[in-house]
Amino acid sequence: METKRKKIRVSTLREMKASGEKFVMVTAYDALTASIAEEAEMEVVLVGDSLGMTALGLRTTLKITLDMMIHHAGAVARGAKSALLVGDMPFMTYKISPEQALANAARMIAEGSMEAVKFEGGAEVAPMVARLVEAGIPVMGHVGLLPQSYHSQGGFRVQGREEGDRERLLADAQALDEAGVFALVLEALPTSIADEITSTISAPTIGIGAGKGCDAQVLVFSDLLGLGNRRLPKFARRYADLRTEAIKGLKNYADDVRSGEFPGAENTYTE
Ligand code: KIV
Repeated sequence: METKRKKIRVSTLREMKASGEKFVMVTAYDALTASIAEEAEMEVVLVGDSLGMTALGLRTTLKITLDMMIHHAGAVARGAKSALLVGDMPFMTYKISPEQALANAARMIAEGSMEAVKFEGGAEVAPMVARLVEAGIPVMGHVGLLPQSYHSQGGFRVQGREEGDRERLLADAQALDEAGVFALVLEALPTSIADEITSTISAPTIGIGAGKGCDAQVLVFSDLLGLGNRRLPKFARRYADLRTEAIKGLKNYADDVRSGEFPGAENTYTE
């Protein structure tokens, strides 16, 4: 079912921050999950590289390639029309140089039908953000816990607790804001740091494990709907238990097949 709402654009999110209205982002990985997010009227749909772990069974996001992301992005774009569509740029596809970032982001927009891209990293990616913004590609930033920095951050760990972290994170957020990010994801950070970033930068902040002071929140589709079987991070909340429902449905189907109850007359064609 198509929703009737107005198209969400990057400008909509800035207007919402200005008026103090919270917005919501969720990940989606294919046309099916995107169409559910669209009908639920999520403002932003992120084709996260978390798809490596949630949909492809990988342990981290590091093996995801640009071609894989473009394949999934295209499917998401066919499922969601009015939400703002953001494609995550995978590991090392944007950190080598501004020109590399621009060429790869252009593929995400043109071939993946995305409307914006997301980069992980702080001040070191600000020149890449500035290059894309100058070329007309909106960029979402992402600081704090960075899944693509799994090895250097020592796993999936809360950030911002070491000496000097607060100052570095604030400087990173400031550099990204000045480079022109239209929004900034804050992942797994103490609330006081997230709140300070939210009140000092012009771009809206989108929290995941960064407290309620952020301008928006994001969760991973399968975590929030209880589809996966991985242990949930502390910052996620389960709003449904679709895995249990799905298993129950499949078992009922199997029982009906085995007992001869399915297919019934209503599922059968006559001449
Ligand atoms: O890949 C992803 O799903 C993300 C979100 C958790 C922000 O980056």
